[in-house]
Amino acid sequence: MKSNPDIKKVVRQHAEMAEFFSGGLTVKKLTAEHAEKNLEITSAVSAAKKTRPPCSPENIKELEDIAEQTRKCRKCELGSIHKNAVPGEGNTSARIMFVGEAPGADEDTQGRPFVGRAGQLLDKIITACGLKREDVWIGNILKCRPPDNRDPKPEEIIACIPYLQRQIELINPEIIVALGAHAAKTLLDTPKAIGQLRGIFHEYIPGIGHKPIKLMPTFHPAYLLRNYSDDNRRKVWEDMKKVLAELGLPVPQKTGK
Ligand code: URA
Repeated sequence: MKSNPDIKKVVRQHAEMAEFFSGGLTVKKLTAEHAEKNLEITSAVSAAKKTRPPCSPENIKELEDIAEQTRKCRKCELGSIHKNAVPGEGNTSARIMFVGEAPGADEDTQGRPFVGRAGQLLDKIITACGLKREDVWIGNILKCRPPDNRDPKPEEIIACIPYLQRQIELINPEIIVALGAHAAKTLLDTPKAIGQLRGIFHEYIPGIGHKPIKLMPTFHPAYLLRNYSDDNRRKVWEDMKKVLAELGLPVPQKTGK
């Protein structure tokens, strides 16, 4: 088979995914046959990515306004003690929206979501899915960093959540991936533990007149970093495979022992 830069790229991505998610699993050697299969995957992914209409200019403008409002927000004390608000960022026509808990120190410094260690892990998960950060939208329940990365307080969530609720309505993704307990419990308005919630599609109900959006809870990348077991990585990958399948996107292959 002729060497093709596209194939090489996808094979590399596939290998990265396999390496990251493999844990204790054996990664099948990538053969020319796999490479060919992956070329099909690339075309299928790019076709599938194009299926959403672009976000309207009005919605884009409102998203920019929301970002500006979060930067000026003083609805709770976090607005006065942070370095930068982190409104969220990404593709306004995204099919998948990732929602985390709250910015950490790196995010606070840069004003961007998931740019620290947990963010690097999230990037790997996105790559594993055959996607790029530019394909998805990434945000948080809270727009400002809680001091010492403590848990968000209920009154902070109540003050901040309308921003995210409106961002979800405007972007209207096909699937929300809730990263960790705080995101899942807040968006689903449930006290259930993340272990009970993950792995199953739930419904997020946006405002009146909006259709429910499928929501997949999974473990937070920071939790994965602290509990970096094969089992936990495999669980996250199982959750993401369900998301890919639901969107009709190809699911990268790997084999177990
Ligand atoms: N953890 C989060 O929940 N969000 C971020 O943006 C970074 C780390």
